[in-house]
Amino acid sequence: MPFGGAIQAEYIDKDPAYRQAFLTYCDLIMPMNELKFGQIQPQRGEWNFEPADKLVDFARSHGRLSRGTCHVWWNSTPDWVAALETPAEAEAALVQHIETVTDRYKGRLRSWDVVNEVAANDPIYDGRSLRDTVWMQKLGPRHIPIAFKATANADPSARLVINDYDLEYAGPEFDAKRAVILSIVRQLQDHNVRVDAVGMQGHLYTDDHRIDGDAILAFHRELDKLGLGILVTELDVIDRNGSPAAAAQDKRAEKVVSELLDAVFAWKPPEAVIAWGITDRYSWIPDSMPRPDGAPQRPLPLGRDMHEKSWMKLLQKRLGSV
Ligand code: XIL
Repeated sequence: MPFGGAIQAEYIDKDPAYRQAFLTYCDLIMPMNELKFGQIQPQRGEWNFEPADKLVDFARSHGRLSRGTCHVWWNSTPDWVAALETPAEAEAALVQHIETVTDRYKGRLRSWDVVNEVAANDPIYDGRSLRDTVWMQKLGPRHIPIAFKATANADPSARLVINDYDLEYAGPEFDAKRAVILSIVRQLQDHNVRVDAVGMQGHLYTDDHRIDGDAILAFHRELDKLGLGILVTELDVIDRNGSPAAAAQDKRAEKVVSELLDAVFAWKPPEAVIAWGITDRYSWIPDSMPRPDGAPQRPLPLGRDMHEKSWMKLLQKRLGSV
């Protein structure tokens, strides 16, 4: 099973140790942001392929797998999309974008997160199953099958993934989120639209939430029945409240990663496990979810000094690469 890491174009040249870490540890190297809609077509008809090309070439030229994220995401939908006036225009723009990007990387990306975070943040609290986004406003729920069909058309061999967060935890809001994903999958299949796997982001909390092994097992089993696989797409650790000492943070991280792996492997091995970065030098967590005490966070499997944490060894062991 491949162990992967998401890489960022801005650091690959200026930090040789960062670049080398992906080659040392990863079977799969994927662009973290460079294939997102807003990054790749920031203005209508203005394409910015260079950063993604560079990263995909880096992975492929070193014999590594790669994959794509993401065509539809509320947080990377440029303003020009919001300004489109009719549903027909929005549909044409979505299909053209997806076909252009998917075709360019055809055969080089083994899978695509076709839609990312389309489930409501909290389906119970929000009182809706799907998130309110520009694509929902323009096209309604049908933007989801439109996106899957366009991706499949452009690269029939790419595995088509629906990716989301908060699929790992115990509690009614998380049960509801898993139910929304299953319901989207069933509706796609009822309409003969192909979907191959669910991506669980795997942004793991050491304290705020509890991983629900039984629920993950049931979810995985249900997806398997429907012919879908699962993969962990954005693994990292959010540690906010315990002791800030490095050893204490790493111990909590190892526990939560180990619980996730146990749960995910309980039914069948996942298709891949991908970390959202590789080293604590670069992560979105300190910007988006800092510790209240301001202490440095340790979200990734290598420290700032590139030292392997115990949970990197755990991952290697579980994925069979050592
Ligand atoms: C984040 C990246 O890590 C940041 O570098 C970027 O500025 C914003 O996006 N869920 C997702 C990812 O699906 O795409 C997000 O990645 C993190 C949350």
